[in-house]
Amino acid sequence: RRLMMLGPPGAGKGTQAKRVAADLGIPHISTGDMLREARRKGTTMGLEAARFMDAGQLVPDEVVIGIVRDRLDEEDARAGFILDGFPRTRAQAEALQEMGVTLDAVLNIVVSDEAVIGRLGGRISCPACGAVYHEAFTPPDADDVCNACGHQGLVKRDDDQPEAIKKRLEGYHAQTAPLIAFYDEVGILESIDGEQAPDAVNESICKVIG
Ligand code: AP5
Ligand code: ZN
Repeated sequence: RRLMMLGPPGAGKGTQAKRVAADLGIPHISTGDMLREARRKGTTMGLEAARFMDAGQLVPDEVVIGIVRDRLDEEDARAGFILDGFPRTRAQAEALQEMGVTLDAVLNIVVSDEAVIGRLGGRISCPACGAVYHEAFTPPDADDVCNACGHQGLVKRDDDQPEAIKKRLEGYHAQTAPLIAFYDEVGILESIDGEQAPDAVNESICKVIG
């Protein structure tokens, strides 16, 4: 299965992609996670990318396309994958086609700008394992402790600041939203109501991908 998650920042792409990946036994390929990992490791590319990310801007196409090309070449991606956060521009979508990758379905998670702002404002995540929570909507069982790995001390992402959230939403509407029409024309677009509870969103996705 070759799947892709499309949607605004905070739509729940990561939350849902992790579940689909675990259910289908395919890798979850998130460009945002890979860029944050490169930054943690302090690579030149990671530090360069961080400047764009913290400002709420997209990282240049060549950088992201290179990362994805390398990742898709790895053995575990042969049998399928779920892409999360890529492609995000027309140039990235075309680069994916040029790599010879044909997607089976593009899951377009539909969420309003108001909901995005509420979700990103309250997002907290585990610096040890990457698990994602929301202070009000999906809090961890014990305050400030990760359910998945027990790590204490959940953190906010550097780009979940009001000014950066606003920029990311603008960037989404200008550069990424046009991909909805692009993939609709290809005939593989599946729109999902992302404003339901997480379990209900998962059910809608399962219905669509069978
Ligand atoms: P990336 O990490 O991809 O961020 P994003 O697209 O802004 O998406 P998010 O991770 O913020 O949100 P999400 O949709 O995964 O939502 P989540 O599940 O966390 O990219 C970050 C940056 O990297 C970009 O700004 C850019 O600079 C760079 N980058 C990455 N890819 C790139 C590319 N291809 N090209 C160029 N640059 C690139 O959920 C959000 C919150 O809501 C959480 O708190 C969660 O618990 C909660 N939640 C989830 N689902 C629900 C629900 N159903 N109801 C209530 N709350 C929910
Ligand atoms: Zn954890």
